[in-house]
Amino acid sequence: MTDTSLTDLSWDDFDEHRDPRPVENQFDAVVERAVSRRGFLGGALAFGSGAAVFGSGLLSSTSMSQAATAKFNFAPVDVATDFEIHVPAGFKSEVLVRWGDALWSDAEGAYSAETGVSLDVSDKVFGENTDGMELFEVDGREVIAVNSEYVNPKINLPAASEGMAKSADEVALLKNLQGVTVMEIANDGQGYKVVVDSPYNRRITHETEMTIGGPLAGHDLVKTKADPTGTKVRGTMNNCGSGKTLWGTYLTCEENFNGYFGATGEMPEGEGYIRYGIGGQGRYAYEIFDPRYDISNEPNEPHRHGFITEIDPSDPTSTPVKRTALGRFKHENAEMVHASDGRIVVYLGDDERGEYLYRYVSTNSWTEGASPEGLLDDGTLYVAKFNDDLSGEWLPLTPQTTGMDAAEILAFTRMAASAAGGTTMDRPEWVAVNPLRAEAYVALTNNKNRGVKPNAGGDDTAPNGPNPRDTNNYGQIVRWRPTGENHAADSFAWDLYVMAGNPTVYDNAYGGSDNVNDGNMFNSPDGMAFSSDGLLWIQTDGNYKNEGDFAGMGNNQMLVGDPETGEIIRFMTVPYGAEVTGLCWSLDKTVAFVGVQHPGGSWPDGAGKPRSSVVSVWREDGAAFG
Ligand code: FEO
Ligand code: CA
Ligand code: CA
Ligand code: CA
Repeated sequence: MTDTSLTDLSWDDFDEHRDPRPVENQFDAVVERAVSRRGFLGGALAFGSGAAVFGSGLLSSTSMSQAATAKFNFAPVDVATDFEIHVPAGFKSEVLVRWGDALWSDAEGAYSAETGVSLDVSDKVFGENTDGMELFEVDGREVIAVNSEYVNPKINLPAASEGMAKSADEVALLKNLQGVTVMEIANDGQGYKVVVDSPYNRRITHETEMTIGGPLAGHDLVKTKADPTGTKVRGTMNNCGSGKTLWGTYLTCEENFNGYFGATGEMPEGEGYIRYGIGGQGRYAYEIFDPRYDISNEPNEPHRHGFITEIDPSDPTSTPVKRTALGRFKHENAEMVHASDGRIVVYLGDDERGEYLYRYVSTNSWTEGASPEGLLDDGTLYVAKFNDDLSGEWLPLTPQTTGMDAAEILAFTRMAASAAGGTTMDRPEWVAVNPLRAEAYVALTNNKNRGVKPNAGGDDTAPNGPNPRDTNNYGQIVRWRPTGENHAADSFAWDLYVMAGNPTVYDNAYGGSDNVNDGNMFNSPDGMAFSSDGLLWIQTDGNYKNEGDFAGMGNNQMLVGDPETGEIIRFMTVPYGAEVTGLCWSLDKTVAFVGVQHPGGSWPDGAGKPRSSVVSVWREDGAAFG
């Protein structure tokens, strides 16, 4: 018997199902404890409605009353609780592409409001649950690469299946609606449209053949019956955030891959399965109909997922490559930056409660126009350690620091980070690098288990500097500046850019930092990207019930932050039920493309099933704003 209720769970609740937290916990601490732990800031960091300035640490001492000097050129939008998109006065939005829309003309009309998409055309349409998105200039054209994080079986499968695949064909359908879409877009004067039948259009699914690249290629840990060489793998699963290399390729980031695997027989033993939440019943019954996903049959198949995969959007015949040197965990995004010493740095978050923030540094340097060969295969992974005195270090993951060999470090990166002594974090989501100065930001979305239970490896998760609140349901954004303005340096200074909270409910740490007020409050920051003008765009994936601790926050939203003043204002709200995820701009920066994932109701069609979509947002006066 399969438990069909599993497909109703969010991905983090799925983790919780496999590893429940204790009914009683030994860490119950009062809220004020989080505030007292901020003592190293000299008392200057205020929470709630207090009058103190959010100005120590890296923020300038500019008070919020001077925020009128901020660079925003629009008026903020109000909270919303409806099934619409709202953008500021003077802006417009329109749906660019919906789940089920055809990428090739032979799939036109593939989508039915009653039955969704049929198997025969399911790899020729835009995938479901749009997420990490990047835009590329290819031969003078605009090409978007965007992943589809997961599927909603209850939307895609016949009602009789009750949300759990009941046949190999149903599994095949679910596989095809996830993965990655590459699509050309063009502005015909009436707005951007997908170019149907473009030679650049491509679908990558859970069956697309890929290469295992980097140090794990050919290693025993990634050999299977189907691939005794350990060099070829099919599919990229549960891709969440994304990245863009300096040489114009797309990085897609495998997040909750663990949920696709199950055991129909005996579970293989190993700490690695436990740490990554692999075992038991899979989320979609893949393991029942495809032995590749049955770990009692293929114990190494899960070791071939959980990586950053590189895709060349300019060549639809190219083979994607899993870059194992960037480690295996529940990757959020991959933010690449060219360090001042010439090396390539990639910042990487692991989105699970109490897991870590990572950095990859290439061994060799790169100059623009040079071949990137080897840059993502030969380098060192580091885990972040944040000290309470606002300093931090990148701890290298090496055999010396972890007691593991080089291959184990990449296959079981979480265990290496624990051994090295990284700082447990409140679910690291996207990292964004400021284009105007050597500075990076990470969204720590929330962590209801902070101070309540250890992470899956048993590491303590008591409140710490960048994660100061027990039972943190709101989240925060932490930023750091590398020593010597060199992203490859091994130390940094950090501070909290914002602590989300609800100042209308709490006048303590849960009321948020001083740059949070009743006009901009939000919870669970997730997606982030900088625009070229140095503004930080923040997307939320949080509680949208608008009640209790979340009263007054309304639907999920996209906000804009000014790194200089700390001011944050609300730019956009999305339909009830949806999260906002994925953001890129047209080449001329006049149009932003924004992902709307798992909307509620019948958005955007107004009838039938809800459809995850990408929307275009532009200024009515046609001016650039990215
Ligand atoms: Fe799929 Fe971490 O968001
Ligand atoms: Ca996300
Ligand atoms: Ca999230
Ligand atoms: Ca999501």
